[in-house]
Amino acid sequence: MAQLDGKIVLITGAAGAIGSAITAAVTEAGGTAIATDVKFGPGVHHALDVTSEADWKRVMADVEKQNQRLDGLVNAAGIVKVGTIERIEFEDWRRVISINLDGTFLGCKYAFPLLRKKGGSIVNLSSVLALIGGYNLVAYSASKGGVSLLSKSVALAGARYKPSVRCNAICPAFIEGAMVDDIANSTKRPELVHQKLTNDIPLGRIGQPAEVASLCTYLLSDESAFVTGADFPIDGGLTAR
Ligand SMILES: NC(=O)c1ccc[n+]([C@@H]2O[C@H](COP(=O)([O-])OP(=O)(O)OC[C@H]3O[C@@H](n4cnc5c(N)ncnc54)[C@H](O)[C@@H]3O)[C@@H](O)[C@H]2O)c1
Repeated sequence: MAQLDGKIVLITGAAGAIGSAITAAVTEAGGTAIATDVKFGPGVHHALDVTSEADWKRVMADVEKQNQRLDGLVNAAGIVKVGTIERIEFEDWRRVISINLDGTFLGCKYAFPLLRKKGGSIVNLSSVLALIGGYNLVAYSASKGGVSLLSKSVALAGARYKPSVRCNAICPAFIEGAMVDDIANSTKRPELVHQKLTNDIPLGRIGQPAEVASLCTYLLSDESAFVTGADFPIDGGLTAR
């Protein structure tokens, strides 16, 4: 596994399936993980609502006071809302865009000055739904399309600094955890949805949070020093079709 010795990495959505796996992987790789989520809970160091500019300012001021710098940021907080263009309320659209896209924007914006000090790496959790459409995930797809292009813009801005700030997006397909369970449970036959999601993936299974964490660790590490502005599908071959 790539090494993160001495690196300080802030993770949002750290109580979730993927965020908690990334938090564990950062620590295992020798880094210091600053775990944040919307509420305090086991393993969460800071309550940080990613949609709140005031929260970002408060937490970043604290990180600066404690560590004087930041080496990595992982924007993993996110929600999903099932709905076609005809069957989603504007309020739900706004909530998804607010957490997934505004939250990632605010993270990049407020972490950037600390990342710039010694150079750093941002990893944004996008989705395969930034690369292909989903007929009944209209808000989610739009939010993740935004996250992927936001990541490219941040990467180009970060490349203008020496040392540079890199920024990449990870685009997972279905990963085991609450998010996939929520999608399945919003239908009448959850077990059929699980089966369909699995059947859609050429490798014949859904992914594990630890597999996403492993890719994330690489992107945070110096081994990926020449990698920026890219989307990384981790999807069992879903988007290869
Ligand atoms: N699970 C998947 O299949 C999958 C696939 C592709 C992309 N992703 C993306 O990966 C990321 C992590 O997904 P996951 O599977 O761990 O989901 P999860 O539901 O297990 O975790 C999401 C976390 O985000 C937190 N969160 C929600 N609103 C927040 C807010 N306003 N401020 C701060 N934190 C907030 C939740 O408390 C939760 O801990 C998300 O961005 C998701 O869109 C997940």
